[in-house]
Amino acid sequence: MSKRVRTAVFPAGGLGTRFLPATKVIPKEMLALVDKPIIQYGVEEAVASGIEHIIFITGRGKSAMEDHFDVSYELDATLEKKGKKELLELSRKISSLARVSYVRQKAPLGLGHAVLCAKELVGDEPFAVLLPDDVIDAEPPCIKQMIDVYEEREGSVLATMTIDGPDISAYGVLAGAPDAANPRIYNCTGMVEKPKFENAPSKQAIVGRYVLTPRVFEMLEKTTPGAGGEIQLTDGILALLQHEKVFGYTFEGKRFDAGDKFGMLQATVEFALKRPEFGEKFREYLKGLPL
Ligand code: G1P
Repeated sequence: MSKRVRTAVFPAGGLGTRFLPATKVIPKEMLALVDKPIIQYGVEEAVASGIEHIIFITGRGKSAMEDHFDVSYELDATLEKKGKKELLELSRKISSLARVSYVRQKAPLGLGHAVLCAKELVGDEPFAVLLPDDVIDAEPPCIKQMIDVYEEREGSVLATMTIDGPDISAYGVLAGAPDAANPRIYNCTGMVEKPKFENAPSKQAIVGRYVLTPRVFEMLEKTTPGAGGEIQLTDGILALLQHEKVFGYTFEGKRFDAGDKFGMLQATVEFALKRPEFGEKFREYLKGLPL
C-alpha cells in the first residue's frame, strides 16, 4: 500500500500582477474573500482532508502570510482582556490549524521550480499541491476527493475541469481518454502547458490541485524552462508519466479563480450568499439592484 498523503505544498511566491494595485504591498494570497484571506480557504481545505504539514513556498514581501498563520500575541491578549471569546477563538484557531513550514523561492523561475523547493521538506512520500488562487467550494473537499483517487489507483492525480473554447489556452491541458469504470477519472497519455486553442489535445484543463508522487522531484530537477520561459509543473508531470500512471480527476464542486479580479467578484458574491449571518440580507440587497 502506498504511503499516506500528509503534506501539502502551497506555492505562494507569485507577484500577483493580475490584481494590481491591491497587490502592490499586500500578498495576493492575503486578499480577503468575504472576511478570510484566500490562502486560508486552501489551508482549511487541506486540513479538512487529513493534511498535517503545510509547506508555503514564499518570496519577498510575503511576511504577512507568515504572521497570519502564527500566534498574534498582542491581538489575543487584547481580545482576552476584553472578553471577546469568539474572536479570540477565531484568531487562535488559525495558528493551530497545522504544522507550518516556509521555504523561500529565491527567484520566480516557475511553478515547477516552486514545487521543487519543497523537496527536502516533503521527503520520500506522496504530497498534495494546492494553488491558493484557485478557491474550490466542494464537499468533500476537492483535495480529499483526489487523495481518495490516489489511494485507489496508486498514481498521481490532477484536478481537471472541462473548458470548451479559447480560454483553455490559459491552462495546462491533458491528453488521454476517460476511464471506462469511472467517468470522473481521465487516463493521461500526455499534457501540455498553455497550448494554443487549436493545438489543445482535449477540453480537460488542469485546475490548481494535485496529488503527486515524490518521483516528480526527480523529474523537476531535470525540467528545462518551457511555456513562458518558466520551469513548468506540467512538464515535470509529463516526464513522470513516462514512469508512472497519472490521472485527471473531474472533482465535484465549483472552482473560482480568486487571483483574477472578475473571478474574485464571482467568489465574493457566491460565498457571501452562503453566509448564515448575512446571506439572506445580501440576497435581498442584490435583488433590489436595478440590474
Ligand atoms: C498554473 C498551471 C496550469 C494550471 C493553472 C490552474 O498556471 O501552470 O497548468 O492549469 O495553474 O490554475 P498559472 O495560472 O499559474 O499560469
